[in-house]
Amino acid sequence: MDLHSDALVFFGATGDLAYKKIFPALQSMIKRGNLNVPVVGVAKAGWNLDQFKARAQDSLEKHGGLDQAAWEKLSLLLRYVDGDYADSATFAAVRKELGAAKRPAHYLAIPPSLFEKVVEQLVGSGCAEGARMIVEKPFGHDLASAQELNRILLSAFPESSIFRIDHYLAKGPVHNMVSFRFSNSFLEPLWNRDHIESVQITMAEDFGIQGRGAFYDQTGAIRDVIQNHIFQVMCNLAMECPARRDSESMRDEKVKVLKAIPPLDSKNLVRGQFHGYLDEKGVAPNSQVETFAALRLEIKSWRWDGVPFYIRAGKNLPVTCTEVMARFRKPPATNMTETDVPQNYVRFRISPEMTVAMAVSVTSPTGAGNRQAVELVATRHPRPEEMEAYERVLSDAMAGDATLFARQDYVEEAWRIVDPVLKETTPVFAYEPHTWGPEEVEQSILPAGGWDEPQAEEQEDFRVVGPR
Ligand code: BG6
Repeated sequence: MDLHSDALVFFGATGDLAYKKIFPALQSMIKRGNLNVPVVGVAKAGWNLDQFKARAQDSLEKHGGLDQAAWEKLSLLLRYVDGDYADSATFAAVRKELGAAKRPAHYLAIPPSLFEKVVEQLVGSGCAEGARMIVEKPFGHDLASAQELNRILLSAFPESSIFRIDHYLAKGPVHNMVSFRFSNSFLEPLWNRDHIESVQITMAEDFGIQGRGAFYDQTGAIRDVIQNHIFQVMCNLAMECPARRDSESMRDEKVKVLKAIPPLDSKNLVRGQFHGYLDEKGVAPNSQVETFAALRLEIKSWRWDGVPFYIRAGKNLPVTCTEVMARFRKPPATNMTETDVPQNYVRFRISPEMTVAMAVSVTSPTGAGNRQAVELVATRHPRPEEMEAYERVLSDAMAGDATLFARQDYVEEAWRIVDPVLKETTPVFAYEPHTWGPEEVEQSILPAGGWDEPQAEEQEDFRVVGPR
């Protein structure tokens, strides 16, 4: 039986996400032969189909480039419905555009406050039958609102038809961390509390909030990227090997990681705000929203108990880069080494390039007993033929593969961890743009050996040699 969605309806079709990510993803799907069903855009903009197509064309020109042949095909698939989400006529028009489609995928690229209305209307108009729901982040604002959104969605769709997007999961290097761990026999025996001293995850962006003040000021760094993107990275680093390769076995293991994490205590959190944030459009004059957060978590599992996981994310930092640094415990002092031995580590770089690097200690040219750390490094820059995250999530959701999507229990566990600090009033410390956040971080959330300071860009360096 073909379980592929036979139409894609996307709500919020005239919005920013559609412009920057969705149209380019649709064009790439066409180029790869993965899209040949009607694509219905829905929004309330007073537009007609020609205006909608003009917007799509402009989006492709600005974001990645227009491919004439693919665009011609996409243009033939595009439909547009203009109307209010509260009006049943809008959904009757969507139903009409769906024609004979029996398994549409509805993609909600709209604020969560509109979900309930849209879900009710989809049910009332018959558009929900046999359908899948793809929902954008943010999935809720805290634990209670996420539970409420789940209640709304699950009242109309089974969990197996709901696809909660976290585009980080669709990034090749994020997945590579799991496959690297479980396909290299040397690492896994060492990947635990006996050998790892600490793990750091840094998600740094060298730009500010890019005109998204109204959204960002309701969100902040913890809700925007830590509760979702960084927690997914952490789960890939910490999870056990799934018993099977199917989506539920993978997702079960990730949920187990989160379940083992106690709620974040405010003493393990430093929040920051860059100078100049309050002047951004849409930001409240006395806003206490964080554009930076550094925190320490524990995973109370057999594998990880006692190993601190440090997380740091922020806007207007010195570089744009997401990187993991796992430091090993130091080797014992022996007569073989006259000086302090450098620490081994594994470094996974997720963006802008993919890197796996291992620091090892070798004899330094300066003296027989002196040691020097060198990195064994494999770096690969993204290739044009690789799938972008949004192409991957849309293709997978339409094919019904839930592996790269957040399940209900996962989302709620992730909120449970940060919920208490979101409800507390914790201080927000100022930092200068293009620094590594407020200095208070160094005083209270400091990994042994200091924070990793990712570099802006790494040279491609990757040698493939045959087996010996
Ligand atoms: C989004 C956040 O989810 O992820 C943004 O809302 C952030 O604030 C972005 O910049 C980062 O994603 P990427 O793929 O550009 O690294």
